[in-house]
Amino acid sequence: MSDPGALDAAAGERAAYIHIPFCHRRCPYCDFAVVDLGEQPTSFDRYITALEIEISMEPEWCPLKAVNLGGGTPSVLSPEQVGRVLRSLDDSFGLLPGAEVSIEANPEDWTEQHATELRRVGINRVSLGVQSFDPSVLASLGRVHDRATVVDAVRNAHRAGYDVVNLDLIFGTPVESMASWQDTVAAAIGLDPNHLSAYALTVELGTALSRAVRNGAPGPDEDDLADKYEHLVAAVGDRLAHYEVSNWAEPGRECRYNLTTWGQGEYLGFGLGAHGHRDGVRTRNVRRLDVYLRRIEEGVSPEAGREAMGEWERERERVYLGLRLRAGVETGEAGAALLASPAGQRLLAAGVVELHGDRLLVAQPLLTDAVAREVLALDPFD
Ligand SMILES: C[S@@+](CC[C@H](N)C(=O)[O-])C[C@H]1O[C@@H](n2cnc3c(N)ncnc32)[C@H](O)[C@@H]1O
Repeated sequence: MSDPGALDAAAGERAAYIHIPFCHRRCPYCDFAVVDLGEQPTSFDRYITALEIEISMEPEWCPLKAVNLGGGTPSVLSPEQVGRVLRSLDDSFGLLPGAEVSIEANPEDWTEQHATELRRVGINRVSLGVQSFDPSVLASLGRVHDRATVVDAVRNAHRAGYDVVNLDLIFGTPVESMASWQDTVAAAIGLDPNHLSAYALTVELGTALSRAVRNGAPGPDEDDLADKYEHLVAAVGDRLAHYEVSNWAEPGRECRYNLTTWGQGEYLGFGLGAHGHRDGVRTRNVRRLDVYLRRIEEGVSPEAGREAMGEWERERERVYLGLRLRAGVETGEAGAALLASPAGQRLLAAGVVELHGDRLLVAQPLLTDAVAREVLALDPFD
């Protein structure tokens, strides 16, 4: 069991997210801000320079305890380019000793040389986009790696001395049988990762997957997703602590950056489509590369929108996000409002939510989204 106090404390630390949008091809299920290099060849150096400028434009802040390079596919960058971004963060804000510096990587990019050189410029955590070990599932997800590539990538991360090696899985692809998922879970566990993430395949609007489903192709099935999730929970068992609805880790190896976001902590967001949360204001950047580059090069902020939440909205968001943690969240005003509502009473009576001292938690993780919807529907005047 992960220590709830330690998880809560991580939310008070300052973090930064850097979005690297480049992919050699867009995956059919992905709606992130992505630049498909096949369709739109782009100079990485120009983008890195823009990131350096954006970072230098940000007003002074506290030193950072966690940095996450997400994508897109940050592992397409050279170590020198990643090093430039990290130096720029360090120059502007400072990176605290022992800070978590994480990168998302596609297994096919994660050679021993690349892993070693990225480790040298300061990356110490890698999240490998494994998704599945089944060739037919990987093909349907538009992925180009195979099982052997993942095995090599994990070995390369260990040889290069990474503190945390996360394997990222997706379950519920329509071509995935239960036997295939069981094999993927066994293969992932067999690699002995110290962190594991598994997300149900979601049909996002505007993606190739969503167009296919609209034209009659099968989409993920709710019962199948539930069975696969339950299998995963049982198979991981006590090997890793189930600390968040979709995440498992050795205690002490939980993702500090994600704990900041789930704990309603503050983080800066740089790059295309990046989100930030600073001084109580949530911001998001433009999602078009030409607009992002032009704005930065003209010395204008790439922000597309900002939202300053009222007190009640913040409180409701705190509980909505915090309930993702298996250790739950301090009940507070919004938790109390949930428990006083007819929906909350039903959830409590059915054992879906539980009260442990001053903490409210979701006891049946499959129903986390359903509980979250009830929290979002709460009105302060009810
Ligand atoms: C956006 S990708 C970027 C990192 C890397 N390029 C990769 O593909 O793994 C990060 C993660 O987002 C998750 N993801 C993205 N779109 C998803 C979807 N529609 N359904 C479920 N998970 C999704 C996957 O777990 C994926 O590993």
